[in-house]
Amino acid sequence: MPVIEQSVIRGLGFHVPERILTNKDLEELVETSDEWITTRTGIKERHIAAEGEALSDIALQAAKKALADAHMEADDLTHIIVATCTPDSYCPNTACILEHKLGVSGKIAFDINAACTGFTYNLEMARSIIALRPDSVVLIIGGDILSSRTNWADRTTCVLFGDGAGAAVLTGASNDNGKGLKGRILDTILSSDGSIGDMLKFNGGGSSAPYSLGHVVTENHFISMQGREVFKHAIRNMVAVSQEILDRNKVSTDDVSLVITHQANLRIIESLGKKLGITDERVFVNLHKYGNTSAATIPIALAEAREQNRLTKDSLLLVAAFGGGFTWGSALVRFE
Ligand code: ACO
Repeated sequence: MPVIEQSVIRGLGFHVPERILTNKDLEELVETSDEWITTRTGIKERHIAAEGEALSDIALQAAKKALADAHMEADDLTHIIVATCTPDSYCPNTACILEHKLGVSGKIAFDINAACTGFTYNLEMARSIIALRPDSVVLIIGGDILSSRTNWADRTTCVLFGDGAGAAVLTGASNDNGKGLKGRILDTILSSDGSIGDMLKFNGGGSSAPYSLGHVVTENHFISMQGREVFKHAIRNMVAVSQEILDRNKVSTDDVSLVITHQANLRIIESLGKKLGITDERVFVNLHKYGNTSAATIPIALAEAREQNRLTKDSLLLVAAFGGGFTWGSALVRFE
């Protein structure tokens, strides 16, 4: 067997829009209460993009921070991959727009869409690229502006989501400038099930429900979700894929220093920790500040954990994600 180059996270960064929408603000928009949102979801506030603020603008700030953390320049990158379900536009893709905003060209730049699991899918993309081309320097983004697809009259969804982006720079293990972070990706597992994808969707404007000139935007433009069903599938699949990656790598939950899961609902996060037998202080939570930022929840949490000095030497990180599609996945990362 040839030796396969392992991938290492060298830098992390995140950015959220300036404007904050609190639960109290939402009480003015729909029939809801801070008490309902807090007890049912754990969310207190979320950041919402300003008019004209596109995903690439937010991703640009996250990318600059991740590059600085890795002690690298945009010119060092070989690949830019943006995971999102709310791109700036269908064409050009957001990665090409971001490349231009970073002031570089000639990179391999494309978007992927696995909804809230997008960043975890992107970890696997980066690993595969680096295994094939060990000199690659890959910028991966997880970001969404779900406020652009939110029906602000629908209380069952509008209280849940926020906007943001997170970024990571990855290189091969042997391509080390000795200055950045060292988060060696030990494994990734991804999965999906399209048969129940309708439980969480927005298809208006896509080729299955195209808009024509003068078309009036209808409800299919906005997120619709069967919350209770999504809730059950999220817990079941994230627990199973977390257990699978631990077993496959012969590590126990006691070995895990920190768990970062998709931040959609505090009850989902706490249930996952309990079912895996991982104590609360090892389960990362920040959704009270940002809400569900879709593909951005995991890289934002990673970057915050880095800022809080929780990705220390020898720590073992378990990542678990779940999102529209349905898609889900896990990753194991060892910090050196
Ligand atoms: N304020 C007040 N009442 C509300 C609100 C609100 N914002 N929203 C719903 N309610 C009401 C409902 O109408 C219902 O009333 P009824 O009993 O009179 O019919 C009651 O509250 C209970 O509603 P449920 O939907 O059963 O509430 P639940 O406890 O399931 O919480 C929630 C809803 C928060 C959406 C939860 O189901 C959830 O978090 N689901 C998972 C979401 C998720 O994980 N998404 C991940 C993927 S997201 C992505 O990929 C983009």
